[in-house]
Amino acid sequence: MNHPSQPGAVADNDGRVLIFDTTLRDGEQSPGASMTLEEKLEVADLLDQLGVDIIEAGFPIASPGDFESVREVARRVKNAAVAGLARASEKDIDRCAEALREARRPRIHTFISTSPVHMKYKLQMEPERVLEMVSASVTRARNHVADVEWSAEDGTRTELDFLCRCVEAAIKAGATTINIPDTVGYITPGEYELLFRTVRERVPNSDKAIFSVHCHDDLGLAVANSLAGVRGGARQVECTINGIGERAGNAALEEVVMSMKTRGDALPFYTHIDAKLLTRASKLVSAVTSFPVQYNKAIVGRNAFAHESGIHQDGMLKNAYTYEIMTPESVGVSKTSLVMGKHSGRHAFREKLKELGYDLGENALEDAFNRFKDLADRKKFVYDEDLAALVDDEIVNAHDHIKVEALMVMAGTHGPQSAALTLDIGGQKLTHQATGNGPVDAIFNAIKALAPHEATLELFQVHAVTEGTDAQAEVSVRLSENGKSVTGRGADPDTLVASARAYVSALNRLIAKRARTKPEAMQAI
Ligand code: KIV
Ligand code: ZN
Repeated sequence: MNHPSQPGAVADNDGRVLIFDTTLRDGEQSPGASMTLEEKLEVADLLDQLGVDIIEAGFPIASPGDFESVREVARRVKNAAVAGLARASEKDIDRCAEALREARRPRIHTFISTSPVHMKYKLQMEPERVLEMVSASVTRARNHVADVEWSAEDGTRTELDFLCRCVEAAIKAGATTINIPDTVGYITPGEYELLFRTVRERVPNSDKAIFSVHCHDDLGLAVANSLAGVRGGARQVECTINGIGERAGNAALEEVVMSMKTRGDALPFYTHIDAKLLTRASKLVSAVTSFPVQYNKAIVGRNAFAHESGIHQDGMLKNAYTYEIMTPESVGVSKTSLVMGKHSGRHAFREKLKELGYDLGENALEDAFNRFKDLADRKKFVYDEDLAALVDDEIVNAHDHIKVEALMVMAGTHGPQSAALTLDIGGQKLTHQATGNGPVDAIFNAIKALAPHEATLELFQVHAVTEGTDAQAEVSVRLSENGKSVTGRGADPDTLVASARAYVSALNRLIAKRARTKPEAMQAI
């Protein structure tokens, strides 16, 4: 069956699978992965271009910042349906509807826990009360919009009879999509497939809704489970770019899509995703969340198409299919190429960025071009990866209140090492000299003296963008304050400058978060 409001017609026997991207909601719930409004809008634009069917933009009741980002994404997205999350309460649902008011295709996604352990300890409610709330919440959401998704939180640890009663009640109240999440990443593929088959068979009105999978990766089974759920009859997959999300993350969108595309013989399903944009989407999400993509990550990892051993290289030269089941081009990987030198002009620079998938405004382009010129002076070869790191850094840090202006470091075998740092704080230039246990410590001490704060350093990570001793360093810094963490990123051929930029970037995010977050209503997720 198809509800007319649903994105694309999906019949039971059709192999079309809807992609529900939750990078901006479940993905953003990863500790340290928070994004600014501008970053969320940029990700939403790219998801829309990618061909995602539904973009879950956030959880409007959680904070004024979340509300605003859902509203802005809803205003902006042209093709995809835009979903907002709401618990089973009138206040949550009404706030969600308000945030979605200007969406071309709004969806309210409401949920409640249905497993014995969640009902008893988290909700402290009897099952019969939960069942009443399922009907009431879906009914309320349907009074606002025609497209309503209902989720049984911790669905895979829910008693089957009760799950079927809840699903039947949700559909009766008007839910058009039924999601059975594996909230804690507990189920195995065979069990999940059977669960969907059984629920769809046992619930009398199951043909009136599209079933959806939502899998977490605690046992590394999220993608396998999602595909098994599709085999069991689900026709919507909830997933995130790079698999980011709560704890071990969610099913990775790129892996789900490419599994169906590459193994159509075993998985006769398809999506409307433009796979050539997958690498670009992965890089953007990594840049704005400052979560590095693991080198050997399937589809989008730096080594996913690299062949090191002699035997493999020999095979590849004879026929790429010997060791490659999909081509790098099919997921948008361009071969590492020397781009330009210090004599390249603005026009070539702009064209190259377009080829890499960046479309910058005039000011951002000018700033990026100046940094490129500076880089080309200092680095012998400038590669695509160098440009991407530079532009990502520019996009992520462009609106910062605090900026690194100048840095001079004294380091060596005899300490104490010292750093003289100048920061631009809201237009005012301030300098401080500090010492520390090593140059990085000295820099961070100077930042603390210029911009006092209580946050603690949780992570400091450095990686080289390309090879060679003149490679750019990309540094990630995670800071935490009052239980909330943020990650900042900085890139520069000088590792110490990149470190200063990364720390300051994290600090800016912390400031933005403080301004946006009013601590209300977050306890249940
Ligand atoms: O993992 C989960 O159960 C969720 C729900 C809110 C859908 O994210
Ligand atoms: Zn989830």
